[in-house]
Amino acid sequence: MDRLRITGGAKLNGSVAVSCSKNAYLPIIAGVLLSDQPITLKGLPALRDIKTMQRLLGNLGVKISSCPAGVKFCADQITSLEAKYDLVSTMRASILVLGPLLTRFKKAVVSLPGGCAIGVRPIDLHLKYLEKMGAKIKICAGHVEASTSQLIGTKLVLPFPSVGATENLMMAAVLAEGTTEIENAALEPEIKDLANFLITLGAKIHGAGSPVISIEGVPKLGGGEYRAIGDRIEAATYIIAGIITKSKVTVTGFNPQHLDAVLNTLTDMGAQLTVGRDFVTVGPSDQLTGVCIDTAPYPGFPTDVQAQLVALATTANSSSMISERIFENRFMHLPELGRMGASFSLKGKTAMIIGSDDLNGAPVMCTDLRASAALVLAALVAKGESEILRVYHLDRGYDNLDGKLKSLGVSLERVNS
Ligand code: UD1
Repeated sequence: MDRLRITGGAKLNGSVAVSCSKNAYLPIIAGVLLSDQPITLKGLPALRDIKTMQRLLGNLGVKISSCPAGVKFCADQITSLEAKYDLVSTMRASILVLGPLLTRFKKAVVSLPGGCAIGVRPIDLHLKYLEKMGAKIKICAGHVEASTSQLIGTKLVLPFPSVGATENLMMAAVLAEGTTEIENAALEPEIKDLANFLITLGAKIHGAGSPVISIEGVPKLGGGEYRAIGDRIEAATYIIAGIITKSKVTVTGFNPQHLDAVLNTLTDMGAQLTVGRDFVTVGPSDQLTGVCIDTAPYPGFPTDVQAQLVALATTANSSSMISERIFENRFMHLPELGRMGASFSLKGKTAMIIGSDDLNGAPVMCTDLRASAALVLAALVAKGESEILRVYHLDRGYDNLDGKLKSLGVSLERVNS
């Protein structure tokens, strides 16, 4: 298992380009199953989760090959309709193949993802609303078995704007009979990106990115080429890297409007940010003040940047209150940051963080993807060396993290033990 050794205290300098969004590409890759025509995806990030989704599609019979423009997929001869436990258990987003398989082939078997480190993460909304579209669903021996004679478009009112449920239902609806309306749909930019991809293939979707998405079913989708949006969560992480080290760093390759809530919060804390059309430059920031923030569905403060904000808050000159409202168990970075000298208390969903400039390097353990990013950020300013264990969590979501941080001047070494 690899570990990262980071020596803190270096000033960063330069520019870093983020990769295409992991959370946009995971549903888009699942969406390849909707068409029997070749589809080329450009700029797929080199991430473990992206490879897992490709392996999952490969196991179903999708042909996957590299081509000059990117990676070419062809789902013209599907050989299996079953997403097995060995892959699903390593990546919950595997559930996103359910809607595409069911709507195109009328049958799908997907292993139940189960919980993960950050929470229980049920899929009840995915299943309940597919049933409303005419799916018959059985849970049997740890699998979801879904079948239908034909999915039928209808009005689906989600009780909570779940990102994954919105994506699964939108993909199911593109080949359903009639029109599906998803109300209280998730608003995340990745939803609009998935819709744009499906529209490229010939889907008829209106309103993606708003609370009501209307999808008029079509009999068949074609092929095409697509490049997903830049990764807003990766961008936020490098922006915070610039701020926490009081450095001048430019982060490019994404739409800063997708990070409004984050950029406003960082500005409120005292960060100096210049916001362009597709970049943010962090000026050397003065001492930061604490912040009071709750995570929320988009356009609120993203849960996927909560851990990185906590790391930043440990270096502010006053206290912060950060509440996690999306997942039950997403503060596992706190005890690890505590090992580096951070001072905090946790009551239910709210962490109180006492800022100081006293972080010290220590051996720490990654527990999930974004918690790991928080440990890397803390290590950038901690005195001395930090050793970050179980970096495979980071490799799920940060394309070439080592290279990008080194290019900014971080003293970092990956050790294989
Ligand atoms: C997606 C993102 C993840 C991000 C999250 C919230 C991907 C691959 N992952 O995850 O990085 O943190 O959005 O922005 O895009 N819920 C239910 N029942 C359901 C579905 C969800 O109770 O059927 C609950 C979940 O347990 C969680 C909350 O709703 O507490 C949000 O989940 P959801 O929006 O579905 O997130 P994901 O799609 O899993």
